[in-house]
Amino acid sequence: MQNFQGKTAFITGAGAGIGLGMARTFARQGMNIVLCDIRREGLEQALGEINRLGAQALAVEADVSIKEQLERAAQQAFDAFGKVHVFCANAGVSMHGVPIEKLPAKDWEWVLGVNLYGVIHGFQIFVPHMRAHGEESHIVNTASIAGFRVTPGWTTGPYSMSKYAVVAISEALEQDLEGSNIGLSILAPAAVRTGIFHSGRARPPRMGGAFQRVESEQFAHRLDEGLAPDVVGERVLRGIRKGEFYIFTHNWARELVTERHARLQAAFDECEKWYEERGMEPPPR
Ligand SMILES: NC(=O)c1ccc[n+]([C@@H]2O[C@H](COP(=O)([O-])OP(=O)(O)OC[C@H]3O[C@@H](n4cnc5c(N)ncnc54)[C@H](O)[C@@H]3O)[C@@H](O)[C@H]2O)c1
Repeated sequence: MQNFQGKTAFITGAGAGIGLGMARTFARQGMNIVLCDIRREGLEQALGEINRLGAQALAVEADVSIKEQLERAAQQAFDAFGKVHVFCANAGVSMHGVPIEKLPAKDWEWVLGVNLYGVIHGFQIFVPHMRAHGEESHIVNTASIAGFRVTPGWTTGPYSMSKYAVVAISEALEQDLEGSNIGLSILAPAAVRTGIFHSGRARPPRMGGAFQRVESEQFAHRLDEGLAPDVVGERVLRGIRKGEFYIFTHNWARELVTERHARLQAAFDECEKWYEERGMEPPPR
């Protein structure tokens, strides 16, 4: 996608952090902005900021883990702006520092509900809309470097699980979008200076309501040196322009992925040896 002026972007989790960084970046390109978040107070502040940048903007409250709520929010955007050209499935919650054998079922449901189902609901609503209006469009699914490696030392199992799933579903969606004029990217940042470790503030009442997870918040300082959300916004803009599928933001993260791949390669070496030991031909592809 090349032309942004006068087009509309719909961003989930836009009441703070990376979502708001993308919103500011797109607003500076002359786009109309639809800010979607579960927290009303975040939305009000974000709307003020985007309006001050001179963009036409709308704030819609929705819990992305509930499809009907996202559908309602999307309808508000269609009513206000007609067409949505950029959809960013960005809302996400952290789930770090907790040994997985002790994590309550509700927390598994919450992290999958927001981080994975938020993405699924998003493309189920916006892909048919984009196909119908036919103009060049783009979808950005926010995963994480945690979607490519379960980083040692971060006790990040449930979060990583949800982000690996976002990567897999996006790789599948890329195949389904072949031949359309809808581009797709996976945003995979490492540390970004946001309040993600205070995600408990966004836990909805049906999941137990807002809370503070001390274990997760102990990780908060690790983001102090992280990238600014607007820099990530600029990175995403470049990715959309150039049609990048995987959008990485931190070069050092290459090492994490390389280590994982080396382990996988070694596992295939073992498989090859096993066939040799048995004197058997491996099955054809
Ligand atoms: N900050 C990082 O270092 C980092 C790194 C990699 C990936 N990410 C990913 O980036 C995305 C944005 O995270 P962030 O760092 O900006 O965090 P953030 O907490 O600053 O912003 C996330 C926003 O999502 C909203 N939200 C939470 N649950 C929601 C729901 N059910 N429905 C709608 N909105 C909801 C929150 O209210 C919040 O405003 C997430 O998907 C996160 O996993 C962040």
